[in-house]
Amino acid sequence: MMQKKVHILTYGCQMNVSDSERIAASLRNCGYAETDSLDDADMVILNTCSVRAKAEERIYGILHTMKGQLKKNPDLIIGVGGCVAQQEGKQLLERVPHLRFVFGTHNLHLLPRMISEAESGRRLAETDFIDDDKRFDLYPQNSDFSGVTRFITIMQGCDNYCSYCIVPYVRGREVSRSPEDILTEVRLAVEAGVKEVTLLGQNVNSYMAKSGDGSAFAELLRSIAAVDGITRLRFMTSHPKDISKPLIDCFADLDKLCSHIHLPVQAGSDRILQLMKRGYTRADYLAKIARLRAMRPDIYVTSDIIVGFPGETEADFQQTLDLMEEVVYSDSYSFVYSPRPETKAALMPDNATKEEKHQRLDRLLKLQKKLTSGLQAVLLGKRVEVLVEGAGRMPGQIFGRTSGNRVVNFPGDPALVGSLQLPLIVRNNQNSLLGRLEVIS
Ligand code: 5AD
Ligand code: SF4
Repeated sequence: MMQKKVHILTYGCQMNVSDSERIAASLRNCGYAETDSLDDADMVILNTCSVRAKAEERIYGILHTMKGQLKKNPDLIIGVGGCVAQQEGKQLLERVPHLRFVFGTHNLHLLPRMISEAESGRRLAETDFIDDDKRFDLYPQNSDFSGVTRFITIMQGCDNYCSYCIVPYVRGREVSRSPEDILTEVRLAVEAGVKEVTLLGQNVNSYMAKSGDGSAFAELLRSIAAVDGITRLRFMTSHPKDISKPLIDCFADLDKLCSHIHLPVQAGSDRILQLMKRGYTRADYLAKIARLRAMRPDIYVTSDIIVGFPGETEADFQQTLDLMEEVVYSDSYSFVYSPRPETKAALMPDNATKEEKHQRLDRLLKLQKKLTSGLQAVLLGKRVEVLVEGAGRMPGQIFGRTSGNRVVNFPGDPALVGSLQLPLIVRNNQNSLLGRLEVIS
């Protein structure tokens, strides 16, 4: 029999990338090998994102173009998972008649049965939230993966209900994996040659917060840093309100913990932060950054920012720009506010025009460019430590990242992949740095 093949398309955040690995593992157990080409595929799975309306619209667009693919291959089985699947459930089957199956964010463990039903021609949707650890099934039980860096999911879900955000509705309540399971996965990663681990969660620093005093995340970081063979440790995404003293202390004590934190502020004005239900003020946020910097003076901070939240005035927006300058973010991911179903903010009066919002986004992007460039310029003429991850942008180049998460490309031997190197920084490109290894006299 011919090997069956599945083509998996992943949209959205790192959690979806991690889930797609688990989807691929489950499909392997059902006899499907992964293929990069849609034309080869017997099955296509879209792992979807609904955090903003555009991401969701894109999925419908792609599902529409799949009709063409079905003309070429009428037996193609199309499935949808992830956040759009969770949000729409059965309705998605009604809306897209050529779709065969829909699985929610907690239902990856049901895939074997769902696949076999879909193969026998049935159409089905499974999107119930579940409380038990089954939702954590399928994380690697062997080291059949490659690469120098690896994301390891330590918790899923979110209990914060920020007023603009759909995540709590499509990902459910916060649940943490056990430290034992996580450490097992870390050790497997090390065996497979991984040097840098990024701990992943929608709210990574509230790891096990429900059942403890908030120190569980710091303890986890300490026990992973103690694993032999780990060179570097990162984590994302952190919520400012859950930055605890034990966590800040880790930045003083753990050399392997990288000098970078992604700490989304979302807005710089207290009025907007309150409307967003973020649970901190501008002053609280800045105080936490100051405490982090006291422990780790060279820490790079990145952020997510929403512009044009309902009711945001020019003065509110100006406070966001001021805060960015005060923190000096090394990077930020900024988005125009997008109303999402079920969320509180979707009902709030919103007077700013689309043009105003896009103008604010442009101003913000311009400021970020200046801040990134300024921080990178400081590195010119210096040697920085880089963990080499793979082939670089140009032929003959390799690339890696600094502890502060800046990308450096430099001429070098691919045999250096996995090692720490100290290139001299010779050029500041906007999104990366150029380095060279050889000693200059
Ligand atoms: N509109 C715009 N951006 C959003 N984000 C989350 N929800 C929305 C929304 N409704 C952004 C936040 C979050 C990032 C992952 O996406 O900045 O941190
Ligand atoms: Fe969304 Fe807020 Fe939870 Fe982040 S913390 S996932 S922004 S609700």
